[in-house]
Amino acid sequence: TLNAPLVFLAAYLLGALPFGVITAKLRGVDIFQVGSGSTGATNVIRACGKWCGLAVFTLDVAKGALAAYLGLLFFPVAADPRNAWLVIICGFLALVGHSASVFIGFRGGKSAATGLGVALALDWRIFLAVAVFTLLVRQITGYQSVASLSAGLLALILFLLFSPYPAYQLLTLTGVVFVWIKHIPNIQRLAAGTETKITGRQNG
Ligand code: G3P
Repeated sequence: TLNAPLVFLAAYLLGALPFGVITAKLRGVDIFQVGSGSTGATNVIRACGKWCGLAVFTLDVAKGALAAYLGLLFFPVAADPRNAWLVIICGFLALVGHSASVFIGFRGGKSAATGLGVALALDWRIFLAVAVFTLLVRQITGYQSVASLSAGLLALILFLLFSPYPAYQLLTLTGVVFVWIKHIPNIQRLAAGTETKITGRQNG
């Protein structure tokens, strides 16, 4: 439809909302100067504690979900399954928005929480399974990066197995590759044994 470019732009801008930067700033912290320098919830925990991190996580999930819901609103897949190809553009642009936000000089985070939000909009059962799994891996390993990376793999497997829409499967594949690429520094630190464990606040 004629609206498509505007919907895509809105999805990008939603993803670009820099909740991590704003939350840390409200606490007087420059998130870019803390820990990994990422604007995501994990680094906000380092910068200003778990409650700030939880708030940012929730907001980042919500913006990803909203971006994909917006897509579903304008391109209903129930009416025409081909609309799924337009919906996934919204989902992917939300990830791009989070990791390369126009509001903060095209910097950002690693898009794990935003991606989880997109999954919520596309299939809430898969979202639930991935969310619970992430928490478990986080608790067991003590590394958020290991949890995010394995959550991506589980999401991919579940969408490949259970989603009726090839478009959603392609989005999950692309999204997971995107999130994994953003995690290359974490993977290198994990291999070197220098990745930071979840220990809560490390600054301020
Ligand atoms: O989702 C991001 C997390 O897996 C890693 O964050 O700040 O430790 O690089 P960070």
